[in-house]
Amino acid sequence: MKDLSMHIMDIVQNSVRAKAENVKLSIVLEEKWLTIRVEDDGTGMNQETLDKVTDPFYTSRTTRKVGMGIPLIMQNAELTDGTMNLKSELGVGTTLTAKFGRTHIDRPPMGNIASTAAMMMTGNDGVNLQFEVRRGDDEFAISTNEVKEVMGDMDIRLPKVTSFLKEMIEENLKELKIEFD
Ligand SMILES: Nc1ncnc2c1ncn2[C@@H]1O[C@H](COP(=O)(O)OP(=O)(O)O)[C@@H](O)[C@H]1O
Ligand SMILES: [Mg+2]
Repeated sequence: MKDLSMHIMDIVQNSVRAKAENVKLSIVLEEKWLTIRVEDDGTGMNQETLDKVTDPFYTSRTTRKVGMGIPLIMQNAELTDGTMNLKSELGVGTTLTAKFGRTHIDRPPMGNIASTAAMMMTGNDGVNLQFEVRRGDDEFAISTNEVKEVMGDMDIRLPKVTSFLKEMIEENLKELKIEFD
């Protein structure tokens, strides 16, 4: 079974494939809910595609016949009494919001979000990924553009940058006492 980080990877990958320049990933923790939102400024979808994407047998890709990312996150969210909502406008972008029952027995674990976020931020050339985690008034946020600024001339695709970033995210979440599971 997929953990939430793997779902996030799938959804962000959709945004990258849709030629997004900016992708905003936010994870919000509430008493009852864990909400994941991925917002992009990619190509968007027309109504026909939008109507089909929750069908596990739909994909616009030709390398694999069966689409899976969206139907799977929807199914897993609904298994926890949560919801999945998809908004998209052609030429504007797409926002996917998946709300999971935080303490529900069927809620998949978060998995390694620090590593996943670090990889997504440094591994998608030309995409500015904004990553934020919120719980009440506590918030941690970082973006690819900020990392680039700090790194100066250093190529952010270097493995040492990815691992530095992973540790930095871990430290910050620890500092805020943010635990997902
Ligand atoms: N953020 C997005 N922007 C534009 N189109 C998208 C986006 N996310 C999904 N899609 C469309 O929905 C289809 C289904 O997505 P998904 O369920 O993740 O399956 P897959 O990625 O395997 O095709 C994609 O092939 C793509 O056409
Ligand atoms: Mg996908």
